[in-house]
Amino acid sequence: MPKILVIYAHPLTEKGSSTHELYKYFINAYQKANPNDEVLIHNVSEYMPYPLNKFAVSIYNKKLAKCDLNVDEKRFNDARQTWIDEFNHADKYVFVNPMYNLFIPAEMKSYIDMIMASHDTLHGGLNKLHGKKAIHLQTSGNKYHNNAPTDDPQIKDLADEYLKMMLHVIGVDDYSSVFAEGMDVDPINAIEILDNAYDEAELAGQKF
Ligand SMILES: Cc1cc2nc3c(=O)[nH]c(=O)nc-3n(C[C@H](O)[C@H](O)[C@H](O)COP(=O)(O)O)c2cc1C
Repeated sequence: MPKILVIYAHPLTEKGSSTHELYKYFINAYQKANPNDEVLIHNVSEYMPYPLNKFAVSIYNKKLAKCDLNVDEKRFNDARQTWIDEFNHADKYVFVNPMYNLFIPAEMKSYIDMIMASHDTLHGGLNKLHGKKAIHLQTSGNKYHNNAPTDDPQIKDLADEYLKMMLHVIGVDDYSSVFAEGMDVDPINAIEILDNAYDEAELAGQKF
């Protein structure tokens, strides 16, 4: 049974969230088209237990130097490995987030830091996940794509660029995105913008 893993990052409740609506349109269409697939969702804003902190980096360095881990380090490492295995064994990935300060939310970045651990990217990316696909569903108050205002060309959607690049590094090149964007800078057309994005998400869900 194909496994679809959803990495969802939104710290607020789902009520009134355009990010959640965007996701619902996508996933409802997906489940209708693929009723037997297993969907697993993590809201990493509520629970991201393995940040790349002092402890995690010291384990990383010890493993690199082929040193033994102590009992606490081993327990932490094994627990984190369960999350990493889950990522590596999934067939499809859905990343869902609002843009925060021109990037993905910090907890989603922490999640990426965690799963990158097994891909050893600093040493040639030995463990590639070819043949898998990913989609990024993102909302943002400003507009960054498709005829976005070009008054400041230095301002880009680094969140989407970053996700795409990191997934490419681990071999996931079948990557697409759906953006609901510009609602804050164009409030008069916000409903229309959202409706169009929801339609796009629904279509993407049918085909994903
Ligand atoms: C802390 C914070 C930072 C934000 N930073 C950006 C930003 O850098 N660029 C942008 O376009 N919108 C930014 N926004 C706006 C959100 O991305 C936008 O309102 C989003 O659609 C919210 O989704 P929601 O309805 O699910 O909460 C920010 C919002 C918050 C709360």
